[in-house]
Amino acid sequence: MGYLMGIDLGTSSVKTIVMAENGEIRGSAQGGYDILIPSIGYAEQQPETWWKAAAQTMRSAVADAGISPHEIESIGLSGQMHGMVLIDDKHEVIRPAIVWSDQRSVREAEDAYRIVGKNELGRITLNPAFTGFQTISLLWVKHHEPQNYGRISTVLSPKDYIRLKLTGEVGTDITDASATLAFDTANQQWSSALIEKLGLEPDFYPKTFNPYEIAGQITREASLETGLAAGTPVVFGGGDQPMQAVGNGIVLPGQVSLTIGTGGQAYSVVEHPYHDPQLRTHTFCNAVPGTWNIMGATLSAGLSLSWLNKSLLSELPYNDINTLAGGIRPGSEGLIFLPYLNGERTPHMDAAARGTFLGITLKHDKAHFIRSVMEGVVFALKDCVEILGGLGIPMNTFIASGGGARSAVWMQIQADILNREILKVEQAEQASAGAAIMAGVGIGRYSSIQEACSTIVQYSELSVSPISENVCRYEELYEIYKDAYKQNKALFQRLTEFQ
Ligand code: XUL
Repeated sequence: MGYLMGIDLGTSSVKTIVMAENGEIRGSAQGGYDILIPSIGYAEQQPETWWKAAAQTMRSAVADAGISPHEIESIGLSGQMHGMVLIDDKHEVIRPAIVWSDQRSVREAEDAYRIVGKNELGRITLNPAFTGFQTISLLWVKHHEPQNYGRISTVLSPKDYIRLKLTGEVGTDITDASATLAFDTANQQWSSALIEKLGLEPDFYPKTFNPYEIAGQITREASLETGLAAGTPVVFGGGDQPMQAVGNGIVLPGQVSLTIGTGGQAYSVVEHPYHDPQLRTHTFCNAVPGTWNIMGATLSAGLSLSWLNKSLLSELPYNDINTLAGGIRPGSEGLIFLPYLNGERTPHMDAAARGTFLGITLKHDKAHFIRSVMEGVVFALKDCVEILGGLGIPMNTFIASGGGARSAVWMQIQADILNREILKVEQAEQASAGAAIMAGVGIGRYSSIQEACSTIVQYSELSVSPISENVCRYEELYEIYKDAYKQNKALFQRLTEFQ
């Protein structure tokens, strides 16, 4: 029997799985790395560090599965979206990658709106201009690092660099391309008009493909570094959100995924390229041909809890964190957290927004702080869901994933704040699973992504239902949560200037 490999290049780690055709995960491995912060608001990572960690996980996942590398039939990729990897004509990396959570380019985001027009930029890309998006980071490099800019041959998204190291082939896929702000998302092609208007070069942008198309084969050199068999096919893969959606079985309109990973997202498939005219959400190309996805994105979801744990709680085990949160009544006795540690995208699109605890009293201890962080993150997801609902996006089934789905107390908070039944899938690592599904579709193991999902994705029988008493409490608190941003917006701006 042959196996499929799925590699998810995340923001804090790379996760690689070896999956059987029926979806059983036979082996897995994870390798971590840090976000480099050379100045306040900067977020960078070294592509070489990604590659070393990824190569090690490929070797370890095969060993964990107890199989020969020759039994891997095909390999797929998923990756953190929006980031910018610059390579020269010898495929050497020019500078560290600027990743999605970077905030240095507020001026360049404003420039993009001024030069192209906010409505026009929204009409072409179906997205807002925001810091950390590839095109905005590229404008920053053009302004601040002309020498580096002059050396650019190609601009890649993060996972494209791993594929380049595996196969020697340069390219990208439509899901990541649509997350760069240089893509005509409805027509699924680069927008030369937009790129030229912004003063960038159309030939920086690589050819685009579908996530399940074969990009190349493992080279001899990559085989030495990863232990994989030379000649094994590698498909293009896609951005982590669309890959995770596939791993969650989200292939039809009406299914919504709620992710609490480093960032948080409410994500739904749409059959037409809908977008929010107010540009509070994102519309990207989707893995299933002829569909798009519309998504609300909050920037500090799991990141808020890991920040609290690392910075203020001296790294408690997550079991203790869940027990402490579970011991506090819904509403954290009036303590509210705004999870804007890194600015916020949906709904505010405000890089100056700041994290806030509101309502601290002598009664509050660390358990309240933990619970209010969990609640604040889900309020931020509710903001996303409310916008999707307001745009008329059908929402019938809610499927939780990421770290938030592994915590019973966080699952209940999601059910109560959203007043919805919440499902989750049995398998872990949905983004890597989505990448492995692309690998299988690429070599014809499955006739389509939909067929693969119906073979592989199993929902846990233990769905979580809302508790009506909690729903009422949270409805009241959500109104205060929303006002807390409105009333502090100007102060956040002043604090950013002060900083
Ligand atoms: C999506 C987003 C994150 C990154 C990192 O818009 O910014 O999900 O892809 O995971």
